[in-house]
Amino acid sequence: MAAIKEAESLDSRFFKPADAFFSAYSNIGLTYDDVTLATLYSEVLPRDTQLTATLAEGLQLNIPVISSDMDTVTEARMAIAMALNGGLGLIHYNMPERDQLSELSRVKNNVHGLNQDPIKVSPDQLIGDVLTLIEKKRLGFSTFPVVDSHGKLVGLLPGHVVKHRYARRKVVEALTPRKQVHTINKKELGRDPIARADKFFMENPGIHKLLVVDDQDRLNGLFTMSDIERISQERNAQFKPARDSHFRLLCGAAVSATRNAFGELDRNRILNHVGALVERGVDVVAVSTAHGHTKGVGDTVKMLRDAFADLPIVAGNCTSGAGVEFLADCGADAIKVGQGPGSICTTRIVAGVGIPQLTALFVTSRMAQKKKVKILADGGITKSGDIVKALTMADAVICGGLLAGCLESPGETLEISGKPYKQYRGMGSLTAMKQGSAARYGHSNDSTRKVAPEGVEALKEVSGSVDRVLGQLIGGIQSGMGYLGAANLDQLREKARFIRVSPAGQREAAPHDVVELKTGG
Ligand code: XMP
Repeated sequence: MAAIKEAESLDSRFFKPADAFFSAYSNIGLTYDDVTLATLYSEVLPRDTQLTATLAEGLQLNIPVISSDMDTVTEARMAIAMALNGGLGLIHYNMPERDQLSELSRVKNNVHGLNQDPIKVSPDQLIGDVLTLIEKKRLGFSTFPVVDSHGKLVGLLPGHVVKHRYARRKVVEALTPRKQVHTINKKELGRDPIARADKFFMENPGIHKLLVVDDQDRLNGLFTMSDIERISQERNAQFKPARDSHFRLLCGAAVSATRNAFGELDRNRILNHVGALVERGVDVVAVSTAHGHTKGVGDTVKMLRDAFADLPIVAGNCTSGAGVEFLADCGADAIKVGQGPGSICTTRIVAGVGIPQLTALFVTSRMAQKKKVKILADGGITKSGDIVKALTMADAVICGGLLAGCLESPGETLEISGKPYKQYRGMGSLTAMKQGSAARYGHSNDSTRKVAPEGVEALKEVSGSVDRVLGQLIGGIQSGMGYLGAANLDQLREKARFIRVSPAGQREAAPHDVVELKTGG
């Protein structure tokens, strides 16, 4: 007993809980690589750790990872992949409002097996138009239901005819006619549409699409065999997809504190748009700006809280206790924390403002506890170990750069010297602001006015699918929790003990004095 006491007191002189540690460093801003976490006695196996995070009443994620609302990170494809892995995507707002609504619908209508709003083509379109559509929307498939102007099913355009050599032909000349298309009446789907579709695909080898029609033969949806297979696999996955109470994937959308021509908050426009998002089933809106501790953001949050009492609201960004208190009082449920830590950010250089991320998380999390709101660690995360450190104070993390190289992020894959890359740019970069995100940085969208960019345009090496990248990150988080004996995120927050790392300690932490082999995998 005495020996344990002695060991504990020895450890506690070096490895401090967050309050004692950050108070001792109150005169310096610290970030992820400045600290490391001490190991603790553990009976917890990494694979048994729980990563559930509740961000607001009714908004629960199965992994605490959110993809950033950036135009090179999150549109429908990314949001679908994030939710299927148990996380959440925030669809960016650098696009017309109606486009953001349809991106949201694509997520909400996606897999629970049946895609209720599949992309359709019309009989009179040219195959060349279909090819343009695929390119413009960066679709990963080329088979489309064909419907007439009343939504009635005319046939199916199979992928093998969607080729440049047929570009001048009309869809009607190349489609598989209605009679030969496999369909099911929606009334026949029963209580378990997945099982019904699964049975169909078992009984019809080689058929990959099943179209759903109503009594008038109007198209009501589409089953794809790969979706059905994925859902069947999901039942065995450790981290279940993040779904709403209707079994639809969770999805968030970012909105800005839009101003009208007179510089006043455009209340009607914001309310109408958020109303339309809510109608389509949005699970959370994020009032997303570079500086959230402002009247404009506060008024927007208050207005949304008044209009949509039950809607989970994220707001930000802040790095101070006062900022968190302000946004919490306005009605936000969760606050984005981070000013300038992002991999494409130049705010600290351009504006001379911002707080190193771990200190910012400590300060904001202490106020968040008082105000009973949640904290999202936004930006600066480059490896799974950073996420473990962030989660000792935050409730979830927001990643941009780590996900921008994934196949599911928007944008083309470029090849440079044989290596594949994807574009990744700051929302405060000049090109992104010209496309609409200037409001996020408090500038007008008028491209003739000179503004100082607060972000850069960059490239990321293609990193594979979201499944793969998140698999690696989650493995790292679970490993960190195992080292601390933390079975869930609450225990991680309670148990974490910090120590400052010297520059030599930082070098020691990465592979050194070896020639590293890239073994892939
Ligand atoms: P990571 O490090 O994950 O950071 O790439 C993503 C986060 O960075 C923020 N962001 C910006 N910050 N200038 C900035 O100072 C920008 O142009 C910019 N664009 C995005 C944002 O919070 C994002 O989630």
